[in-house]
Amino acid sequence: MQHDAFQCGYCTPGQLCSAIGLMGEGRARTREDVRELMSGNLCRCGAYVQILDAVSEVVLANGKLA
Ligand code: FES
Repeated sequence: MQHDAFQCGYCTPGQLCSAIGLMGEGRARTREDVRELMSGNLCRCGAYVQILDAVSEVVLANGKLA
């Protein structure tokens, strides 16, 4: 919500699955890593920058899930 990453919501389930997956893998160390690892998701609303901002904030702040 802070990054306005949730628009129509059509892509959100896939985006969240990818975000949880990349957190579980623990390979994302930078914003560019997050961008690359999230690159398979399409967003018809074009909210890529906002989604990247939101996922990067969470992933880079919390690192790998236990
Ligand atoms: S938020 Fe609408 S398709 Fe991504």
